Amino acid sequence: MSSGLIYFKDGELIVKSGEARIYKFKDELFLEIGQGHNLWALESEISDYIWQLNDRPRGTCLEIGLGLGVASKYILSCRRVNSLTTLELNKDVIDVYKKLEQEDYNHDFTIFPEKRHTILNADGLIYMYETKQKFDFVFIDCYKAIDEDTLPLIADMVIAAKSVIKPDGEVVGWFDKATPDGFIEVFYKLFEKQ
Ligand SMILES: C[S@@+](CC[C@H](N)C(=O)[O-])C[C@H]1O[C@@H](n2cnc3c(N)ncnc32)[C@H](O)[C@@H]1O
Repeated sequence: MSSGLIYFKDGELIVKSGEARIYKFKDELFLEIGQGHNLWALESEISDYIWQLNDRPRGTCLEIGLGLGVASKYILSCRRVNSLTTLELNKDVIDVYKKLEQEDYNHDFTIFPEKRHTILNADGLIYMYETKQKFDFVFIDCYKAIDEDTLPLIADMVIAAKSVIKPDGEVVGWFDKATPDGFIEVFYKLFEKQ
């Protein structure tokens, strides 16, 4: 195969529901949402999640943005995690995720099955302002890039997440390696504890 091949052209569309589609290409999964080829999640990002989240998830966890569920599976595999609630805005994304089989993933996501995973069709921002529950760890991953368009939303999410975090808990946001220099410091400052 030449390196010019792309997932939606040369890969296989394995699951579809409404506006969400999952392709398999070179054994990796790709999630598109909406019109055109709007790529929202890649299975290969597991290495970023492992690097960024490391051993930080613990206790009662909350995650904003299901995507392919790769980060969810990583969080659930962390030894100190008791449960995970994942909020996903788009019901089609939840539907395609539920249609995936363990064998569809290239990576071995054999997780501790006794851990609780609750997936809710909800807007993360609204949920966090309405819930009375407190969490030990919140992971925010509901954006595709970190720039002038997305930073206001990310800032709103972080403020809401800080309102549901326990005093010794931690809020983490997915860091996009392609973030332009000018936005990196602003992004990390959002997560600093007061
Ligand atoms: C980058 S993907 C998440 C990738 C995911 N971490 C994974 O492991 O594949 C972002 C997801 O967030 C969802 N999303 C966007 N805005 C949201 C919101 N306000 N509340 C909840 N989910 C949201 C999108 O529909 C999409 O499924």
